[in-house]
Amino acid sequence: MYQQIFFLLFFTTLLSFTNIVFCQKAGKLNPEVHPPITWQQCDATGKCDTIKGEVVIDANWRWVHSDQGTNCYTGNTWNPTFCTDGVGCSQNCSLEGAQYQSVYGVTTDSSAVRLNFITQGQGKNIGSRLFLMSNATNYQMFYLLGQEFSFDVDVSKLDCGLNGALYLVSMDSDGGMTRFPANSAGAKYGTGYCDAQCPRDLKFISGQGNCKGWVPSSNNPNTGVGGYGSCCAEMDLWEANKMSNAFTPHPCDISQQTLCNGDECGGSASADRYASICDPDGCDFNPYRMGNHSFYGPGLQVDTSSVFTVVTQFVTTDGSPTGTLSAIKRLYVQNGKVISQSESTIPGLTGGGITDDFCTKQKQVFGDKDSFTQHGGLAGMGKALKDGMVLVLSLWDDYFADMLWLDGSYPTTASIDKPGVARGPCSATSGVPTTVESKYPDAYVIYSNIKVGPIGSTFKKTL
Ligand SMILES: *[C@@H]1O[C@H](CO)[C@@H](O)[C@H](O)[C@H]1NC(C)=O
Ligand SMILES: *[C@@H]1O[C@H](CO)[C@@H](O)[C@H](O)[C@H]1NC(C)=O
Ligand SMILES: *[C@@H]1O[C@H](CO)[C@@H](O)[C@H](O)[C@H]1NC(C)=O
Repeated sequence: MYQQIFFLLFFTTLLSFTNIVFCQKAGKLNPEVHPPITWQQCDATGKCDTIKGEVVIDANWRWVHSDQGTNCYTGNTWNPTFCTDGVGCSQNCSLEGAQYQSVYGVTTDSSAVRLNFITQGQGKNIGSRLFLMSNATNYQMFYLLGQEFSFDVDVSKLDCGLNGALYLVSMDSDGGMTRFPANSAGAKYGTGYCDAQCPRDLKFISGQGNCKGWVPSSNNPNTGVGGYGSCCAEMDLWEANKMSNAFTPHPCDISQQTLCNGDECGGSASADRYASICDPDGCDFNPYRMGNHSFYGPGLQVDTSSVFTVVTQFVTTDGSPTGTLSAIKRLYVQNGKVISQSESTIPGLTGGGITDDFCTKQKQVFGDKDSFTQHGGLAGMGKALKDGMVLVLSLWDDYFADMLWLDGSYPTTASIDKPGVARGPCSATSGVPTTVESKYPDAYVIYSNIKVGPIGSTFKKTL
C-alpha cells in the first residue's frame, strides 16, 4: 500500500457541557456501537463454524475534542490550546464514538460490510478504514501461516483511482493500551494503526498525539504529516478496483507496531523513501503488470462486473502452520468456477504466485530496488503471519500518486513499454482525487463471506 488517505469531518459545534476527566481518551458524547459482522472458521474437512465479530472505524476518522467539546483538530490542523506536545495532547483530547452509517457510510448485513466512498452529512466523509474485532474491546487476531483466507468482493462500483483494500497489519490486539498506558481508548476506538509505509498522517501514535512538527497537507484539506510515524508488517491480500488488482507482502525487521521519528520513517515525507525498518514497496503480484491484460476487468476472465471470491494461500516449506513461508498463492472463484491466477508473461520472469525467487527476479527485471529481500522476504512476512495480524477493510483515493501504481502507468515519467511500468489500463489523469471524488460520489465496495482455514478448506473445487 503506497499511502493511506483519510478523513473529512468538520465539527464546529461547541458543546456546553463540562466533564472533569484526566487522561481521558474515549469520548462520552456518542456511544461507540460497533456494527456486527460474521465470518467463518473452517476445518480440514471443509466444515465451517460461524463466528460473531464486529467492525470498528480507525481512530483517525474520529472527532477529536477537548473535555469541553472544543475541536482538538479541525480540517488539517491541531488546536494549539490543547495540543502542543504529544503527551499533553492525549491528556487533553478524546476520541469520540462514531455514527457508522450517517457519518461514515459504513453498514453491515450478516457476513457483509459495505463501505461507501463519499458520505455527505454534517461534513463530507471520504472513505474509511475498519478493523475486525473479536469483541467490543479487542481486535480479532488472525494466524494465517500455513493457512488460507478467502472472501467475496464486489468491486463493480470502483472506478480508476479508487482502492478497495483488504489487508493484514501487525497491530496490537488491544490497540496498544497495555504497552502504552496513556492510550485509554484502545481498540474499541480503533487506535493503534500501523503499516509498512510507517504512516505519519496518524493523529495518535503509541498513546501520544502526533501534533509536534505537524505539517498540514498542501493538497488535502483533512490530513497532514506529523513528526512521528507508525511502522509494522503488512500483508496486502487485496488492493483493487474494477480495472486492476494486486496482492503484496511487506515485511518489517520488527513486525510489531513500532514508532518511528521523522526521516527514519522513510516514505514520501522523508529524504530517503527506504529509511525505515519496513519494506515500503513490497513484492506485488498484479496480473496486468505481470503482462496479462485480458485476465481481470469488466467482462474478462475474472469479471469485475459481478461478485467473485478471492482466495489467498500461505504455503510453508513443510506444510505446517509453524514452517517457513515459501509461497503465497492466489485463486479466484466466480459462478462456481475456480480460476487460477494468470501466469507472468514478462520475458525472464515466470510464475503465477509469489516466492522469494519470483520477487528477486521481478525486482531485477523491472529495475526496482529490492527492499523486500532486505527486510526479510517471505520468511519475514511468515513470521508476522505466525505471530498474528489484524484484518483491515478500507476504501480510499490517493493524494500522493493518484493510484497509478495500481491501475495506470507508474512511474508517470517512465516509458509505458518498460517492463513493470504498465499496471492497469487507467489514464494518467484518471486518479486525481478531486476528479475521483466528484465523478464517483456513489462508489462503494462490499466485502463478505470471510473464511479462514487450512489450505483448500474455504472454497469448493470445480469438478
Ligand atoms: C492541555 O490543555 C490545557 C487547557 O485545558 C492547556 O493549558 C495545556 O497547555 C494543554 N497541554 C498541552 C500540552 O497542549
Ligand atoms: C475479548 O477478546 C479477547 C481476545 O480476543 C479476550 O482476551 C478478552 O477477554 C475478551 N473480552 C471480553 C469482554 O470478552
Ligand atoms: C491471460 O490469462 C488467461 C487465464 O490464465 C489465459 O487464458 C490467457 O491466455 C492469458 N493471456 C495472455 C496474453 O497471456
